[in-house]
Amino acid sequence: MSFQDKVVLVTGASSGIGAAIAEKFAAEGAKVAIVARNTTKLAEVSKKCEEVGSKPLVIVADVTTEESARKAVSQTIDQFGKLDVLINNAGIMKFASILDENAIEAFDHTMVTNLRSVVCFTHIAGPHIVASKGNIINISSIAALGVVVDKAFAYCTSKAGLDHFTRCMALELAPKGVRVNTINPGPVRTDIISNSMGVDKATQDAMYEGSENVTPLGRISESEEVADLTLFLASDKAKGITGSSYVIDNGIILLGLLKNE
Ligand SMILES: NC(=O)c1ccc[n+]([C@@H]2O[C@H](COP(=O)([O-])OP(=O)(O)OC[C@H]3O[C@@H](n4cnc5c(N)ncnc54)[C@H](OP(=O)(O)O)[C@@H]3O)[C@@H](O)[C@H]2O)c1
Repeated sequence: MSFQDKVVLVTGASSGIGAAIAEKFAAEGAKVAIVARNTTKLAEVSKKCEEVGSKPLVIVADVTTEESARKAVSQTIDQFGKLDVLINNAGIMKFASILDENAIEAFDHTMVTNLRSVVCFTHIAGPHIVASKGNIINISSIAALGVVVDKAFAYCTSKAGLDHFTRCMALELAPKGVRVNTINPGPVRTDIISNSMGVDKATQDAMYEGSENVTPLGRISESEEVADLTLFLASDKAKGITGSSYVIDNGIILLGLLKNE
C-alpha cells in the first residue's frame, strides 16, 4: 500500500499506537510529521521512521492547546507543502468515579486531550485536507460503544463524543471529497496505563497479565495491528468508506460489558 508523496500528520506519535502508525506510513513512502510532548521518545520514533523510510518532521507540542495545533499544521505545510492524512491519535485514560474528589479534574483533562484537541486539529488542518481531498482518522476506542470499564466515565464520554464528531465531520466534508473515520480498538498492549496513570511498568505488566484470556480470540492486539487498519482506511482502497467506526478488539465487545475486578 504505497503512500509515496503523501503527507501524513500523526498526533501522539511518541508511543504505542501512534508510533506504530508513524513507522508504517514512513515504511510505505509517506512524508510523516510526528507530534507529542516527550522529546526522547519522539527521537526514538524518528530514528525508526528514518530506518524504514525517511526522516519525519518532529513537532514537540501539547495537543491540549489550539496554539499547538496551529504550530503543528503550519510546520507540516512549511516543510512538506501540503497535508493528505491527519491521524488524531493522542489520548489519555484517567480513572475517576463521578463521586470522587477529582472527578471534574479528570473529566476536563480527558475531554481536552481526547476530544477538544481533535476538534482543534480538524479545524486547523481542515482547509489543507480539503485542498488535497485527503482523509482523517480518529483513534477512538470500544469505550465509545459500551461502558467497558469501571470509573472511566470521562474516557468513555470523550470517545463517544469523538465517534459522533467523526460522523458530523464525515457528512460535512463528504461534498468536498474528504473522508473521516474512526478506529475503535479494544485492549492493545501499549504503555497507556503507565503514561496516563503514572504507575510503573511492573504494575502495568501486572494489569495486562492474563488480559488475553478475556477476549473471545484469546489474545489482545499489538499496536502494529491498529496501524495496519489505519493504513488501509487512509488508502484509496477505502475510498467508499466515511463516517464509519472500525472495531479491532479480538471480539471482546461481543461479550457485552466487562467487569473491572
Ligand atoms: N492501548 C489501548 O488499549 C487502547 C485501546 C483503545 C484506544 N486506545 C487509544 O489509542 C490512542 C493511543 O493510545 P496508546 O495506547 O498508544 O497510548 P500511549 O502509548 O500512552 O500513547 C499516547 C500518545 O498520546 C500522546 N499524548 C498524550 N497526551 C498528549 C498531549 N497533551 N499532547 C501531545 N501528545 C499527547 C503521548 O505522547 P507524550 O506523552 O509524549 O505527549 C503518546 O504519544 C489513544 O487515543 C487511546 O485512547 C488505546
